[in-house]
Amino acid sequence: MQKNIFDVHDKVIIVTGGMGQLGRQFTRSLCEAGAKVAVFDVKIEKQLFEHYFGTYVQSDRVMDQVVDITRRSSIEAGLRQVIQRWGVPSGLINNAAIDAPPDAPVEENGPFEMYPEQSFDRIMEVNVKGIVLCCQVIGGQMAKEGRGSIINICSIYGIVSPDQRIYEYRRKTGMLFYKPVAYSVSKSALLNLSRYLATYWAEKNIRVNTLTFAGVFNNQDKEFLKEYCTHVPLGRMAREDEYNGAIQFLLSDASSYMTGSNLVIDGGWTAW
Ligand SMILES: NC(=O)c1ccc[n+]([C@@H]2O[C@H](COP(=O)([O-])OP(=O)(O)OC[C@H]3O[C@@H](n4cnc5c(N)ncnc54)[C@H](O)[C@@H]3O)[C@@H](O)[C@H]2O)c1
Repeated sequence: MQKNIFDVHDKVIIVTGGMGQLGRQFTRSLCEAGAKVAVFDVKIEKQLFEHYFGTYVQSDRVMDQVVDITRRSSIEAGLRQVIQRWGVPSGLINNAAIDAPPDAPVEENGPFEMYPEQSFDRIMEVNVKGIVLCCQVIGGQMAKEGRGSIINICSIYGIVSPDQRIYEYRRKTGMLFYKPVAYSVSKSALLNLSRYLATYWAEKNIRVNTLTFAGVFNNQDKEFLKEYCTHVPLGRMAREDEYNGAIQFLLSDASSYMTGSNLVIDGGWTAW
């Protein structure tokens, strides 16, 4: 029989932000494919965890760890639990991130000139420092084992600027709305973090890649959807399960010659 090059069976994988919209998808689809997944999230409600992943708890394919990725000691404690139960992970998905929600106070989503320094620091702390710490602690352990794959999750807004014209419909109603700067800056930092670590850890057999997504449908308001979708050659936002294949690709032997790269899945957003 032909070998399945996408095989992730019994691989131990950490998904940061595993309780979020996409983290849940990655966790479920990897468990379905036979991997063992540790969900690291700053907030885990037991009932919700059971609701999302109950089936896989029973088959010991998933575990939960309350981890704040901005604190090294918290990541170390989570990793210790994973190693004790399943051994050193061979996959790390740096998925946890924060952004200002569209209904945040005006300072958060206002003009660049007014963007608060504290908000910038808060976003950079989670989206950049948090990922660097996860790479140091978890990637460092993987390097000692001499194998692994790290995926840093980026956004189209990390490779091109947000198109502020999309939000014109909000400004027309008198809101001072601009997609803020910090998220974009934080996401673009990951591109070079991946390249840096890909070369640094190449001899340790650790591959490090960036995976870039466009927006995912999440019941956004109608006007936003209309504006956003005219920017997408495929004419729609992503479904939340449409990135799972790329995750499995990057964690498996199917991508064994790929490191320091950026895989873009954006419905064609950056193609025109
Ligand atoms: N959803 C989209 O439209 C979209 C588009 C492009 C890129 N992305 C990227 O995909 C990834 C997942 O996005 P999502 O929409 O699922 O986000 P989400 O907000 O639904 O989930 C993020 C998760 O990260 C967790 N988290 C936040 N701070 C943390 C911390 N300090 N330590 C540990 N966990 C923490 C949250 O509790 C949450 O469960 C992010 O990196 C995001 O930037 C998302």
